[in-house]
Amino acid sequence: VGQQPISALMHAALARPHLISLAAGFVDQASLPVSETAAAFDELMAEAAAARAALQYGTNAGYLPLREAVLERLLAADGPSGRAPSVDQVVLTAGSNQLLHLVAEVLCDPGDIVLCAAPSYFVFLGQLHSLQVRAVGVEIDGEGLLPEALEEQLARLKQLGQADRVKAIYVTSYFDNPSTVTLSLARRRRVVEIAKRHGLYVIDDAAYRLLRYAGDDLPGLRQFDDDGSTVITAETFSKSFSPGVRVGWGFLPQALVAPVTGLKAHIDFGSPNLNQHLMATVLKRGLFEPHVDLLRARYRGKLAAMLAALDEHLSGIEGVRYSRPDGGLYVWLELPEGMPAGPGGGLVERALAEGVLYVPGEYCYPPEGPPALANRIRLSFGVQSEANIRRGIEALGRAIRQSG
Ligand SMILES: Cc1ncc(COP(=O)(O)O)c(C=O)c1O
Repeated sequence: VGQQPISALMHAALARPHLISLAAGFVDQASLPVSETAAAFDELMAEAAAARAALQYGTNAGYLPLREAVLERLLAADGPSGRAPSVDQVVLTAGSNQLLHLVAEVLCDPGDIVLCAAPSYFVFLGQLHSLQVRAVGVEIDGEGLLPEALEEQLARLKQLGQADRVKAIYVTSYFDNPSTVTLSLARRRRVVEIAKRHGLYVIDDAAYRLLRYAGDDLPGLRQFDDDGSTVITAETFSKSFSPGVRVGWGFLPQALVAPVTGLKAHIDFGSPNLNQHLMATVLKRGLFEPHVDLLRARYRGKLAAMLAALDEHLSGIEGVRYSRPDGGLYVWLELPEGMPAGPGGGLVERALAEGVLYVPGEYCYPPEGPPALANRIRLSFGVQSEANIRRGIEALGRAIRQSG
């Protein structure tokens, strides 16, 4: 199976308790919804029959009222599309990671291929690796996956006689982790059109959709999937409510409902029922939206603090550039040419000595496709206070100057 490359760095971080970690994709600690969760639990436990229903095993696909609620929210966000969706197409999972894993296992045999943005969410890349599925990278620009690069990669694989091994395209369509790029409206349409032409599925990972701090929402990729046969949508309450509750879900094309729920039945015959009842109560009682508004305000402040610190401490360093995202939890930073960010390259060791940790960008590149860029780093502003974000960026600035 192998270890995630990030685990060695996380151990190094644990050995230094005063380290400021801008690495982990954890959420803001102070705003975790304690009173909302307590209120929902109180209500859930107040009536014995309802409490017992929540404490019993649930169903494999998940608690129906929550599936109905997430479907209603998805349709409200995206607007109506071609085929009438059914609640049967919604499956609740233990975080969206479980949905991604189930889908990858259902779609792919060992040796099959998933085309992924280069760079991509490294946990999903690890899942593919553990399933012996090849992750092949596709170049991106400021609007996300490049359609021309997607077509080129498909043509190359066809030439190699491997076209039939390609099963899906994976994209984190809002504020990608780690590149922070949002797939533009025009590209959403193109990606679905290319997938359809080649008989592929699209896995639309919308984990950060609700964490938007500026600009207008965009429709999910399923909106461009006229007959509903192509796009798998993965969403989660981890970033918008609580990762400890770990409720995610998928909206599946009809043809995948039986295989995905069938596989899930073999694994756990249903994700934690109590947590699903809890989230249904949170939504029903109107506790969710105000919390997301609060999160947006907090993260907007943290992002501004990180960008201001970068402007102050790093913008003067030649060759340093960084993204200015409208949402999500990350900033993607480019170091001067020839300055490697990974272990053994000098910078990560100097940064640790200065008291700050980041994720080397090279961990986020699929093993095939465009080469991993060694001079990229992912910075997370989710978990640290604004004061620590400023201190962490100042420390990073010192480490970069020492490395130059
Ligand atoms: C792009 C992306 N997808 C999915 C997830 C999965 O989160 P969860 O399994 O908690 O829903 C994450 C978490 O960091 C993520 O960054």
